[in-house]
Amino acid sequence: MYRTHTCGELRLQNTGETVILSGWVQKVRNLGAMTFIDIRDRYGITQLVVDEHSASEVREKALSLGREYVIQAVGKVIERSSKNSNIPTGDIEIAVSDLNILNAAETPPFTIEDNSDGGEELRMKYRYLDLRRNPLKRALELRHRMAQIVRNYLDGKGFMEIETPYLIGSTPEGARDFIVPSRMNPGEFYALPQSPQTFKQLLMVAGYDRYFQIVRCFRDEDLRADRQPEFTQIDCEMAFVDREDILQMFEGMAKELFRQVLGVVFEEKFPRITYDEAMEKYGSDKPDTRFGMTITDITNEVKGRNFVVFDSVEYIGAICAEGCAGYTRKQIDALTEFVKRPQVGAKGLVYIRCEEGGQLKSSVDKFYTQEDLKVIAGKAEAKEGDLILILAGGKKKTLSALCDLRLEMGSQLGLRDNGKFSPLWVVDFPLLEWDEETQRFYAMHHPFTAPKAEDIELFDKDPASVRANAYDFVVNGTEIGGGSIRIFDSVLQNKMFELLGFTQEEAQRQFGFLMNAFKYGAPPHGGIAFGFDRFCSLFGGSESIRDYIAFPKNNSGRDVMSDSPSPVSKEQLEELNLKIDIKE
Ligand code: AMO
Repeated sequence: MYRTHTCGELRLQNTGETVILSGWVQKVRNLGAMTFIDIRDRYGITQLVVDEHSASEVREKALSLGREYVIQAVGKVIERSSKNSNIPTGDIEIAVSDLNILNAAETPPFTIEDNSDGGEELRMKYRYLDLRRNPLKRALELRHRMAQIVRNYLDGKGFMEIETPYLIGSTPEGARDFIVPSRMNPGEFYALPQSPQTFKQLLMVAGYDRYFQIVRCFRDEDLRADRQPEFTQIDCEMAFVDREDILQMFEGMAKELFRQVLGVVFEEKFPRITYDEAMEKYGSDKPDTRFGMTITDITNEVKGRNFVVFDSVEYIGAICAEGCAGYTRKQIDALTEFVKRPQVGAKGLVYIRCEEGGQLKSSVDKFYTQEDLKVIAGKAEAKEGDLILILAGGKKKTLSALCDLRLEMGSQLGLRDNGKFSPLWVVDFPLLEWDEETQRFYAMHHPFTAPKAEDIELFDKDPASVRANAYDFVVNGTEIGGGSIRIFDSVLQNKMFELLGFTQEEAQRQFGFLMNAFKYGAPPHGGIAFGFDRFCSLFGGSESIRDYIAFPKNNSGRDVMSDSPSPVSKEQLEELNLKIDIKE
């Protein structure tokens, strides 16, 4: 028997018991007559003590231990004379009678402590060592717990967990596919699924009216803190439902997670806002609604005063930063630099200070009277002591820059507290997005998303204004999930493909199987997928989803631990009938 207890289990009431523990050496302290060894496993740390009562062989072994050795200790639980209230086992220690070294270990390249001395790259390389550390262990425990709650909830609602294939044809979710060559079909490739989208729809046709899967998805896109090339979705689909059924079902799931994991109870329904409203008020389709500071359109109020910057643009918008009238010149210059960054893209920043006594001071006093400024302040709902920040330009770009500025001000003012959660649904997305470069429409969600019934008549007249029956679940400015009611009629689906610029043949080649299936009795259906890694990092309070993935990729999409991707052998290429000719 390797162990009778874990290293996190023993308490004062176990005093006198003879126990066996197995684990890793966290630390050895040799005080001459006594040697203390901290033994660690997934469950905790227990102190072992080897002293003059121990056999000389045991004492020798204790002195030979190094960090991260794997050991087994037999001994009696005794009460500690100096207790450690920082750990749950701190009242006891084990008087060791026998000690076995199960495996020696080289000195690890960084310390296995909560605050490790290892840099990110080093820790990624030795991920299995990093995973021994408490913060990562807690992250994976959180992830496990959340997965169980999701499974229980959905099982309780009659959902079936069904697996779908990874080697498939392409599914269009807007990213690039990872492709896999087929040995048995020379010159042909599988694509890894960007999501199980088409398969879950086929399951609806097959009659499995409540499906879910906690499933890996693959997207070859540029990486960010909340994006990995392989990530996990809680993927769900239901038949015989409308939007309301789906939002209620999954609001229930989200509330269950909030309640069970964080003890946060939402009594009320999650707020819903339309895409248009989100864009106008927050400049984003994933607004951080933990704080106000919404955007005000002041285009009409500021135009026509011979201020050419404003007169020459499409849109002028403002946010009001409460209590910031005292911002120094330097602080405002820094904000100006911020909005001028290429990622933000504004040309400059105009401000109005609402000073004590009602005086308004602006960077454009030359063009605007006190009365003019009062009108702007009124529209932006600014009070004495507030600072109004104004950006101007093309509407889309300026709203996006105002969104960035709003988030920056939110952070500066401490309004984006990680312990606060502000979930909402964003609904009524546009169905299509026009791309100037390629001069064609793209599906904003994916090509299977149904238009809102009342907008179908606009399909031919004004496709750009057709709204989709699509919804996103957003928390604290992050898109956690998204889904839609699907087209289940092959005529409408073909029309959609046509609008997206697919020829009949292309649509048939790529989605023929789905179109065919729709001929055999497709029920009305819809669904949603949650980014599971994002959900976990939201709950864990971290910016990066990497912390919640056991073996993530780095920013260049590499697994630095196994050093992949990597070249393959000539033989493998030959087997696959492939020749590599890398372009310079
Ligand atoms: P969508 O593309 O919106 O929808 O993806 C659903 C959710 O998955 C998460 N997500 C990601 N997480 C980490 N890394 C990535 N690269 C990444 N890409 C997406 C997001 C997102 O909200 N088939 C549809 C769902 C449906 O219509 O039912 C889909 O995949 O949190």
